[in-house]
Amino acid sequence: MRSVIDIVDLSVEEIDELCKTSLDIIANPAKYAESCKGKKLATLFYEPSTRTRLSFTAAMMELGGDVLGFAGASNSSASKGESFADTAKTVSCYADIIAMRTTQEGAALVASRAGSIPVINAGDGRHCHPTQTLADLLTIYREKGSFDNLTVGFCGDLKYGRTVHSLIAALSRYKNVKIVLISPKELMLPDYVKEDILEPNHMEYMETASLEEAMPMLDILYMTRVQRERFDDPEEYERLKNNYILTLEKLETAKKDMCILHPLPRVNEISVKVDDDPRACYFKQVLNGKYIRMALILKLLEEAKKNPKRVDAFAGKGYEFNKHVCNNPKCVTANEQELDQVFKTIDAEGHQRCVWCDIGEPQD
Ligand code: CP
Repeated sequence: MRSVIDIVDLSVEEIDELCKTSLDIIANPAKYAESCKGKKLATLFYEPSTRTRLSFTAAMMELGGDVLGFAGASNSSASKGESFADTAKTVSCYADIIAMRTTQEGAALVASRAGSIPVINAGDGRHCHPTQTLADLLTIYREKGSFDNLTVGFCGDLKYGRTVHSLIAALSRYKNVKIVLISPKELMLPDYVKEDILEPNHMEYMETASLEEAMPMLDILYMTRVQRERFDDPEEYERLKNNYILTLEKLETAKKDMCILHPLPRVNEISVKVDDDPRACYFKQVLNGKYIRMALILKLLEEAKKNPKRVDAFAGKGYEFNKHVCNNPKCVTANEQELDQVFKTIDAEGHQRCVWCDIGEPQD
């Protein structure tokens, strides 16, 4: 049995297989209409969501399964102080698979190690959002036919945008992908994403504050919302929120077949007038999200049936336990009771990073 916490939990071959299954679902929906009959998906959403929760729900319904769960931590026993680990153990008694979204980074990994059913990370703080990445990848696959030889621009909030981090990680495994990072200096891609993904994979990348400069070179433009909910300082959010607004005028220098993506929700960063431009693919992305979540649910349930024993992702990795504390205040270790502090060494100089959140560093 396996969970999907980070997009790199899935190999390139598995992503290809998920894309192919999605295309088969699109072509032959009736074939899949009873594939999950008698199975239950639990949606545990501690953070707001429209697309991810409803697309997981629609996906399970279209597979003939049932859905239970909660939307909002205040509607669950988390509001009484229940841990993610205890919640996962409890939900494992009722459901066959979990999709969960949290503010705390690393919470889905905690749930996957505590429960006895597969867990899909539906977004944990600013850390990962692998099923959004699958929706992005299926859209790129359908629009461009391949993941190789693309120049991909990421624009807006690259600091807090977990979908950006996950998609860069996914693209790092394909040939000749160039990354253009378009953001104000306050919202630049965090160093840990550069150090962990761009640099070790020798990905070509450039950073600029100018969308106009980047536009003509892009095959894909991935717009993002400035993530108000992750700012400690509301004034900084107000100052940065209108930095990039994509309009039809700005698209005049773009390639005719450029593909515009956005994980949504949109606030104002893409003019609604752009929606009718043939390059606008963000609502196709929403629909693709449902199909590839159907494919993922099918795959994980099939694997769990064949091998119900949980694979221990920590085994044999040489991690260091309980010598330091994670310095990321949003890390799940800051709240979860009696959780081991676990660190991995990330480079030859011996620098370490927290295994739960991938963001925090050790402090004494
Ligand atoms: N893209 C995305 O995660 O949307 P929701 O927050 O509406 O789920």
